[in-house]
Amino acid sequence: MQLEDKVIIITGGGQGLGRAMAEYLAEKRVRLALVDLNQEKLDETAAACRALGVQARTYLCNVASEEQVIQTVTQIAEDFGSINGLVNNAGILRDGLTIKVKDGEMSKMSLAQWQSVIDVNLTGVFLCTREVAAKMIELQNEGAIINISSVSRAGNVGQANYSAAKAGVAADTVVWARELARYGIRVAGVAPGLIETDMVASMKPEALERMTAVIPLKRLGKPREIAHSVAFLLENDYFTGRILELDGGVRM
Ligand SMILES: NC(=O)c1ccc[n+]([C@@H]2O[C@H](COP(=O)([O-])OP(=O)(O)OC[C@H]3O[C@@H](n4cnc5c(N)ncnc54)[C@H](O)[C@@H]3O)[C@@H](O)[C@H]2O)c1
Repeated sequence: MQLEDKVIIITGGGQGLGRAMAEYLAEKRVRLALVDLNQEKLDETAAACRALGVQARTYLCNVASEEQVIQTVTQIAEDFGSINGLVNNAGILRDGLTIKVKDGEMSKMSLAQWQSVIDVNLTGVFLCTREVAAKMIELQNEGAIINISSVSRAGNVGQANYSAAKAGVAADTVVWARELARYGIRVAGVAPGLIETDMVASMKPEALERMTAVIPLKRLGKPREIAHSVAFLLENDYFTGRILELDGGVRM
């Protein structure tokens, strides 16, 4: 897909990887619909994109809410008149061991801790994909949907909720690629390793140090490196149903 003047939706576009993707795509003249829970951060990203000379609109929306996603996608289609792609990037972490025994005391991952991550990182991706694909078919717009999975999809200690969601996202990337190809919609994924963002800054320093030591390239990835891969997947018309692993060579 040639990106100039195309309309791409980025969820979690307020900060971190989503903002880096927005800025990278703005440099390629993409028109952006930025979706997030945080209006202030959305405004900052939109301003950075507009400074690059492209149209950028913001939408406050919880990707885990069916009603809000339906309403937001309808609004985006009205505002732009077309939709050529979606990056399912919004995500949260609520790490913890499923069972922890310390000093004879046992604690468990709560159902709320499990469910909140599944709701945003898996159900949110399902809802946004379903609604955006439906709208693209209705508008007869072709394009691509890019899902942000994670190296943790292989199964990371302390991330039963997150690993399950990210593995689900990777599996459904294949499902949707197969289901939506007939409508001219490709579906691909990126599984980033550890990238320098606020999400990572919230991790315990000793865990971060341990994880950096096992990366063959001995450094974290940069948000712009992930943005570059998203642009590549949007552009390359033969890439579908696969996950691009961008992780400095690390294996979980
Ligand atoms: N940072 C990393 O190292 C890393 C590694 C692998 C995968 N990822 C994935 O990349 C994506 C972006 O991560 P990040 O590091 O930029 O995170 P981040 O916390 O910096 O940004 C996430 C953004 O998503 C928004 N968001 C959260 N819940 C939302 C919801 N329910 N509805 C709408 N927006 C919501 C937040 O407001 C925030 O702006 C996530 O899916 C994450 O799992 C990140």
